[in-house]
This record gives sequence, C-alpha cells and structure tokens, in this order.
Amino acid sequence: MNFELTEEQLAVQAAARDFAQTELLPGVIERDEHQKFPAEQIKKLGELGFLGMMVDPKYGGSGMDTISYVLAMEEISKVDASASVVMSVNNSLVCWGLEKYGNEEQKQKYLTKLATGEIIGAFCLSEPEAGSDATSQRTTAEDKGDYYLLNGTKNWITNGSTASVYIVIAQTDVAKGHRGINALIVERGMEGFVVGPKENKLGIRGSDTHSLMFTDVKVPKENRIGEDGFGFKFAMSTLAGGRIGIAAQALGIASGAYELALKYSKERKAFGVEISKHQAIQFKLADMATNIDAARLLCLQAASDKDNHRDYGKSGAMAKLFASKTAMDTTVEAVQVHGGYGFVKEYHVERLMRDAKITQIYEGTSEIQKIVISRELLRG
Ligand code: CAA
Ligand code: FAD
Repeated sequence: MNFELTEEQLAVQAAARDFAQTELLPGVIERDEHQKFPAEQIKKLGELGFLGMMVDPKYGGSGMDTISYVLAMEEISKVDASASVVMSVNNSLVCWGLEKYGNEEQKQKYLTKLATGEIIGAFCLSEPEAGSDATSQRTTAEDKGDYYLLNGTKNWITNGSTASVYIVIAQTDVAKGHRGINALIVERGMEGFVVGPKENKLGIRGSDTHSLMFTDVKVPKENRIGEDGFGFKFAMSTLAGGRIGIAAQALGIASGAYELALKYSKERKAFGVEISKHQAIQFKLADMATNIDAARLLCLQAASDKDNHRDYGKSGAMAKLFASKTAMDTTVEAVQVHGGYGFVKEYHVERLMRDAKITQIYEGTSEIQKIVISRELLRG
C-alpha cells in the first residue's frame, strides 16, 4: 500500500480545508442551534465540484478518485458534519448509484444536474419498520404497465425537503422477496408525494431529515434503475461505497475535536502549568491521535480498494465501524480536555460530540457493520 498523496489529492484536501474554515466555520454554531440547512454553503460546494466529486466530467462531475473524496469529506466534517452529510449522500448514494447503474437518458436528465449541485438528491431506503432489516420493505411499487404506483412511507430521509430527486426503494413483487424490490427515481412535485415535518435531532441539526409519504404516486417505468427486481442489490451495492463517505465523516469529526483539544491543552493553565503538561491529558491526546491515524488508514484502504476495483464491502464496513467509534470516543474526551468550557457551544466540541453519535447509526449501525464484516470473513 502506498498512501503517498498525489499533488492533485493534496490540492483537493487544501481546497476543502480552506472552504471549511472560510465558508463553514462562521455560522456553524448558529445553524446547529436553529436547525438551519446550510443552503448557501451547499450551493458553493456544488460550484467548487464537491457534490459530484467522482462523477465523470462528461456528466458534469469532477472525475476525482475516492481517496480525494475521503480527504475532502474529512476536512468538511472537521467543521460542519451537517454540510458533509449532504455532500456524502449526494456523492456516494445518489450520483454514484446513478452513474453506475442508471441508463444514458437517466444520466443526462438527472446526473448532470446532481453532479454540479444544481439540484441535490436523496436516497430513500429506511422505513418506520424497516431500518437495519432493509429487505422488509413495506413501500410498494405496483407494476401498472407503463408506470409504477408508489405507496408507503420512508423515514429519516436526509435532504428530505431540500432534494429535487429521490431514489426510492420499494417492493414490487412480495413473492420474490428482496429480488422483487425496485429502485425508482421520484421527482419532487410528483402528485401524491408529500414531505413530512422536519426531525428535531441530537446532532447534525443543520441537515434536513424528514419522513416522506407516497400515495398513489405514478412513477414512469423509465425511472426504474436497472432491471426489474434489481432494487435491493442496487441499494446494497450503493451503500457499500456510501459507508466509506460516512467513515470519512466520522474521521473528520474526530480529527476536528482532537485539533481543538490539542490547541486548548496548550493554552489552558491549571496548577501553574498548561494542562498539556499533565500526563493524564497527554495520554488522552496520545489515544486520540493513535485512533485517528488508524481510522484514517482504514478509510484510505477502503478508498484505495474502491479506486483499484478490489472488493470494498468489508474494508468500507471496517472503516465505518472503527472511525465512528473513534469519533464518539475522541469527542467525549475532547469535551473532557476542555472541562466546563467543553460543555458550552462556543468551543465547538460539544457539537462535535453530538454529531459523532449518528455515524454509529446511519448507513448501517455498528452492529450491522459487524454483520457485514463477519459474513465476509466466514465466507472465506
Ligand atoms: N452488493 C450487491 N449485492 C449485495 C450486497 C452488496 N454489497 N450485499 C448484499 N447483497 C445482496 C445479496 O447477494 C443478496 O442477494 P441474493 O440473495 O440474490 O444473492 C441480497 O442482497 C440480500 O442479502 P442478504 O441475504 O445478506 O440480506 P439480509 O437481509 O441478511 O441483510 C444487511 C443484509 C447487510 C443486514 C442489510 O439489510 C443492510 O445493509 N442493512 C442496513 C441498512 C442500511 O445500511 N441502511 C442505510 C440507509 S441509507 C442512510 O442511512 C443514509 C444516511 O444516513 C445519510
Ligand atoms: P433498528 O434497525 O430498529 O435497530 C435498532 C437497534 O437494533 C440498533 O442498535 C441495531 O444495530 C440493532 N439491531 C437490529 N438488527 C440487528 C441484528 N440483526 N443484530 C444485531 N443488532 C441488531 N435512511 C435512509 O434510507 N436514507 C437516509 O437518507 C437516511 N438518513 C438518516 C439520517 C438520520 C439523522 C438518521 C437518524 C437516520 C437516517 N437514515 C436514513 C436511517 C438509518 O439508516 C437507520 O436509522 C439505520 O439503518 C437503523 O435503522 P433503525 O433506526 O430502524 O434501527
């Protein structure tokens, strides 16, 4: 493995770092407090090519590799995980899935606008009664000849009210189980499609999470992605790459908290010396830095597997499992290093601690990552 970054990758990392510091940092506390979607910032991310990073330039994307995507996700997430989840969903769940499995008409109609950030997308798999157990889809897409009749409810959908295009997973043929599931492109404004109220969340409060209701929505047959019955495999295959993005998000939350803790430990004095002179604080910093480096290597390994066309299901799940635990552990300790100041909003670490938790839940909980990893190990 050679993780020497290329000049291009370093330039992407620097551009993302600069954007995070100049455009995201001012206002991040206020957006969190008021659950305000970072609309202007997302528009600028699109203009800079961060919303369709891995998409072929012929469809409006930036044509970059997954390593660059991981580097950019880390930098954006150090500052604003609400913005980075929008970026992650649009890049890895919506654009990647459409580019890999969509047909040319779908790519021309939707991907070209999604990759430039002209519009953003949502990925709709989870339901009130089907989260981890994703094959238990209750949403139905009844085959009516030249269209599907879509009925049901999706839960917890990121970009729920801000997206223009939604990839909706639904059951067409119950008798066929997961092989009877389809992935449909649903447009905002289709008759019978209603966006529910916004969720009031612990973390990533600037992101826009909603339930979605579909009542007799007529979705044209040409909006199905792939062959009839391909929807569940589409979702699983897309999520395998999505997990690398969320792993990088968790890595960024951890490294953002670590950098703040390191700086603070050299400024704050207690018992006549900087707190960084106390070994208890030094050991916390050592643990944080070690786990963050390990998480980064796992993220780069998974990204490199994807870029080099090796299987990345297991390495992506390992990266997400470890990086999300690192995010949780590091942010809790970063608050501790800050003492009482860590408990108030202006020092940022309390927000990072709240944001960290979701990385152990979405795109497959930590328990689900262990299922994915262990199945792969046992398969041999
Ligand atoms: N690529 C392609 N196909 C795959 C696959 C992959 N990576 N993984 C599984 N499949 C296929 C299997 O081959 C199988 O098909 P066949 O029977 O035809 O071979 C089919 O999918 C079913 O697989 P399993 O038998 O393994 O299914 P399962 O019921 O045991 O579930 C699971 C497996 C891993 C637990 C899966 O249900 C899962 O990933 N659950 C978690 C759901 C999830 O991650 N949701 C995230 C929602 S999006 C989100 O959260 C976005 C956000 O936060 C921002
Ligand atoms: P459950 O599946 O009910 O799990 C509850 C607990 O049981 C968990 O600890 C779980 O790990 C455990 N568990 C379940 N099954 C097993 C098992 N077999 N073995 C061991 N433990 C098990 N979904 C989308 O489709 N699109 C989105 O854009 C999206 N964005 C989200 C944004 C936010 C802020 C949140 C909170 C969720 C989002 N989700 C999205 C949904 C997310 O993917 C699900 O919440 C997640 O997959 C878990 O499903 P669940 O909430 O139904 O929990």
